[in-house]
Amino acid sequence: MAALVVRDLAVRVGDKLVLQDVDLELAPARIHALMGPNGSGKSTLALALAGHPAYAVVRGQALLEGQDLLPLPPEARARAGLLVAFQNPPEVEGVKLREFLRLACAERGQGFCEFQKAFPLALARLRLQDFRDRELNVGFSGGEKKRAELLQLYLLRPKVALLDEPDSGVDVDALKLIAEVIREMAEAGTAVLLITHNPRLLTYLPPAQVFVLLDGRIAECGGPELACKIGEEGFEVVRR
Ligand SMILES: Nc1ncnc2c1ncn2[C@@H]1O[C@H](COP(=O)(O)OP(=O)(O)O)[C@@H](O)[C@H]1O
Ligand SMILES: [Mg+2]
Repeated sequence: MAALVVRDLAVRVGDKLVLQDVDLELAPARIHALMGPNGSGKSTLALALAGHPAYAVVRGQALLEGQDLLPLPPEARARAGLLVAFQNPPEVEGVKLREFLRLACAERGQGFCEFQKAFPLALARLRLQDFRDRELNVGFSGGEKKRAELLQLYLLRPKVALLDEPDSGVDVDALKLIAEVIREMAEAGTAVLLITHNPRLLTYLPPAQVFVLLDGRIAECGGPELACKIGEEGFEVVRR
């Protein structure tokens, strides 16, 4: 059974219809890629599925293991097992990284002792040991914010993870680390959607399936060879 099924999704932002007729399925324990040029609607898809109030769902369904997420508030979607890692993670003053994650893990049903054990291991895995008591994302570099997003993935073990450009602003060493962590999470069962317009990450994490978004519609889907072709020839291969 698919972990997430998106059917006939249309999303409006302000008075602009940004997404239309979007259908996709994500399988458990698999890596999928969503590619598309700037402005094609990739982040809109992630934010609409997360339940961001500025992204109005006009029609469609998003079934997580059969349950439609779209009528639920964002926190219930997260509790059901959806994780969205933001392209631009917000800085949250006054909230420490540790407290934020402790509460998030508690909402996902993890006990305090379990968190106490898992948290230091996760910090070490993401090389964020010095960030334990920092305010969430405040003053973090671009790459540190991306690692902090993956720390959530590592600890929360969601059923479905939509990762919006986890590679942007990340140096080569951190990119390898990020790829390894994403692979581990997929192997542990998470259905992963990597949102990227950069094929480099996909060489580390070959996707089982690739979706291409053009002007708010899924224009093509295919296997890993589609990502390679786009890497070599650009999105023109899909436009043709
Ligand atoms: N909050 C917003 N307000 C106004 N327009 C938006 C907003 N979010 C996205 N858009 C518009 O929707 C389109 C798709 O944007 P986005 O989903 O960010 O694309 P991508 O992530 O593929 O680069 C763009 O034209 C963008 O300007
Ligand atoms: Mg984007």
